[in-house]
Amino acid sequence: MTHAPVLKVENLQTRFKSVQRGKYVHAVDDVSIELYPGEIVGLVGESGCGKSTLGRTIVGLEKASAGRVLLDGVDLSTLSGAALRNSRRALQYVFQDPYSSLNDRQTVGEAIDEALLIDGLRSADERTRRAKELLEQVGLPHTARDRHTRELSGGQRQRVAIARSLAVNPRVLICDEPVSALDLSIRAQVMNLFLRLQKDLGVACLFIAHDLALVRQAASRVYVMYLGKIVEHGPSQELYDHPGHPYSQMLLASVPEVDPRVEKLRSAPLLKGEVPSPTNPPSGCRFRTRCPLAVEDCALRAPASHVLSPDHNAACIFAPDLHGGKRSALIHQAA
Ligand SMILES: Nc1ncnc2c1ncn2[C@@H]1O[C@H](COP(=O)(O)OP(=O)(O)OP(=O)(O)O)[C@@H](O)[C@H]1O
Ligand SMILES: [Mg+2]
Repeated sequence: MTHAPVLKVENLQTRFKSVQRGKYVHAVDDVSIELYPGEIVGLVGESGCGKSTLGRTIVGLEKASAGRVLLDGVDLSTLSGAALRNSRRALQYVFQDPYSSLNDRQTVGEAIDEALLIDGLRSADERTRRAKELLEQVGLPHTARDRHTRELSGGQRQRVAIARSLAVNPRVLICDEPVSALDLSIRAQVMNLFLRLQKDLGVACLFIAHDLALVRQAASRVYVMYLGKIVEHGPSQELYDHPGHPYSQMLLASVPEVDPRVEKLRSAPLLKGEVPSPTNPPSGCRFRTRCPLAVEDCALRAPASHVLSPDHNAACIFAPDLHGGKRSALIHQAA
């Protein structure tokens, strides 16, 4: 890609005080990612890998302990006052649960109006016009303005939450499993809405999901996260067809879907056990305690990131072999 990223995250680290005295939960550890204008990028990984913490740190809901977040090349930590508020507004978070992200006592119109006021729209007429436009963009009728948010279905509420985020003209949406709390039947509709917004408005989307099938469908690129680290990233199709990290391969093998490409991988052993505690992560490669390929060296040092093809990297000493198609044989022998 030749143009500049709209969002650049460099060596970001977020840690929380642990319940174990003097220790820290290393939820996000040295993560670097990029988002280009108008692209949807997936962020996948098991529960507890740090996906939400990464998203929350990017938008400023958590404080980074190290690293930088750059919007259009500007390091947010160098800004203050109005400049910081403007930049923060350009980064919006769409929450998983559309029930807790809206105020039940408000009407749809009030909920959107509030966001428009934050955006500085002073004239009531202007706000009414813009609210109509936003409702249209998220596929709700104008009449929805007068309804209470509590009367709406989950899918409708999520649309209102998205309209609110869009009210401030964001450059980037961090969507934290935005459809996983919705009924299966309406997930596809809300997913299509994200695809349309990306196309029509050019908003870049970091799309956090457990559902790899959903990400493959929507995202042009994917980051795979494990225990606070990005272990692999690449163009979706390439990563799904030729994963270079054993974790990505095993995660893909656990996708419950009928797809010939995934069927091919299904013979890989499924992920066993749980993600270790981010308070005491394993030395060297963090995945080694669950990896069928792990050798002594994996405990000694963190694996270097291998470039497997343009914009496709994986941090595993076996990545070139796995990517080259020897993966099944390798993982099978080891399992
Ligand atoms: N405020 C907090 N204080 C202490 N630990 C936290 C806090 N928030 C998150 N964590 C821990 O950080 C780690 C990463 O959590 P996070 O919610 O970011 O994971 P996730 O990948 O979003 O998981 P899920 O898929 O279940 O949403 C977990 O071990 C979690 O317990
Ligand atoms: Mg989460």
